[in-house]
Amino acid sequence: MIDKVHVLFVCLGNICRSPTAHGVFERLVRDAGLEQRIAVDSAGTGDWHIGRPPDQRSHRAALERGVDIGHLRARQVTAADFDRYQYILAMDRSNLDALHRLKPEDYRGHLGLFLAFAGDRSGALDEVPDPYHGGDDDFQRVYELIQRASLGLLDHIREAS
Ligand code: 4NP
Repeated sequence: MIDKVHVLFVCLGNICRSPTAHGVFERLVRDAGLEQRIAVDSAGTGDWHIGRPPDQRSHRAALERGVDIGHLRARQVTAADFDRYQYILAMDRSNLDALHRLKPEDYRGHLGLFLAFAGDRSGALDEVPDPYHGGDDDFQRVYELIQRASLGLLDHIREAS
């Protein structure tokens, strides 16, 4: 691995799914001793929650597994993010579509669905479902999906770098 790899997770509000991915993946990176090599951030395609901490239900689901995301604050993705991040990973197709509309023509990084990295671990799902109007079970499921894809993403970056 030569250069630092920058990874950005993107959902709609940046208060449920992408901050969870941010916290989970950052923990894996730290546990692997790769924090000097891989930088992690998250953002939302929407602007409603800018500056807010993660949704309490996401915060709680992560904290139950030892990952504290309470310090994160929501921000909106911008075209400038394409200058910095080699991996921009969307939680679902609607957010991926929004990112494609924002993407500069000359972007040479990886823009795609996060769950593509879950491989066999994801079952048939390729989107992390929006849990905002759901219940606790939905937030648990989101966490599990994110955990699986994060493991696959770390393997991928280690092999590719
Ligand atoms: P997220 O969840 O995209 O995973 O952060 C949502 C948060 C807020 C809203 C929708 C989804 N909202 O409509 O405000």
